Amino acid sequence: MIRGSASWAGSVRLALSTLFALRSSAYSAGGSPALWCAISPGSLRKSLVTTVPSDCAWAPTQVSMSSTLHIKSRCPVYPGSQTSRFPVPDDRVKWKTEWPEYRPTVYTAAAVLAQPEWADPDVGSFCPQFNILDGSVERRSHEGEYRVLDGKPLNPHGRTGLTGRGLLGRWGPNHAADPIVTRWKKDGGGQPVVNPRSGLPLLQFVSIMRKDCGEWAIPGGMVDPGERVSLTLQREFSEEALNSLAASPQQRALLRQRIDKLFSSPGLQVYKGYVDDPRNTDNAWMETVAVNFHDETGDSVSELPLQAGDDAGQVTWMDFDSTLSYYASHSHFLEMVAKERQAHW
Ligand code: BGC
Repeated sequence: MIRGSASWAGSVRLALSTLFALRSSAYSAGGSPALWCAISPGSLRKSLVTTVPSDCAWAPTQVSMSSTLHIKSRCPVYPGSQTSRFPVPDDRVKWKTEWPEYRPTVYTAAAVLAQPEWADPDVGSFCPQFNILDGSVERRSHEGEYRVLDGKPLNPHGRTGLTGRGLLGRWGPNHAADPIVTRWKKDGGGQPVVNPRSGLPLLQFVSIMRKDCGEWAIPGGMVDPGERVSLTLQREFSEEALNSLAASPQQRALLRQRIDKLFSSPGLQVYKGYVDDPRNTDNAWMETVAVNFHDETGDSVSELPLQAGDDAGQVTWMDFDSTLSYYASHSHFLEMVAKERQAHW
């Protein structure tokens, strides 16, 4: 793992849309999931889907993070298992809706119960301090204060049909970071490629195919206890897209030199908050900070020796494409980048 300093954190810019999203994201302690991720004023979108989703890979293009309701967090069969969630229809997602018949499935994966270093023990056998920085473990949510019921944190976006932690190590928020490394697409003659329909230039990003589900994704990962998000962004990119874990110390030093410049450039934070992730449960959920690092001239990051590593099966420069289905809420993050950079989506 590359451990080093990155300095974008001091100069990170917030996408205008993110600022608006944060303003509109007030989560009330009563558990009502507010509209928490607007794309821009006037373009708040609501999910058109009103039924219980039919499977985890199902990702209709009209559903995005801007939905008021989480969708992937209610996928019928929990990932990596044969465990079925208790079906939660749209009108029963919010905790404030009384539902005495709610009987969520109890499930925590064996790998989590085995208590690796990244996982908490079971509630009861230890006393986590929720809503604060608990030793070096960040138990604060980007979304504000969450409720704790019978010693267990409650998912701020409502019911998922499953209690326990599933595949997630932490009770409450599980923090990730997503580096979106972009460049403009060029043709053989070095000219920017423009989409004929929108007339806008096309962006490309470094994308990995995740080994766990085979979906294309941003090369993000979990924030280690005590780690600065700025470092997580750089470390995860190095491990998954440059395979730094398999590199010799000399090669690692060289890679580090090459990406230090990129990650010390001002990053554009396009999202910070809850993620509609299929691993979410009633008591454990994913949150992320997504930051765009853009190579305007195309002469720095394009030279990077991409090589899939760690959780990545493949890595490539991929065109931004709104018709593709990406992992979790990644499509939404890409859309935000495209809008901010006035690129085709
Ligand atoms: C992934 C991130 C993703 C997050 C939430 C993490 O495991 O590495 O890319 O944004 O989960 O879905």
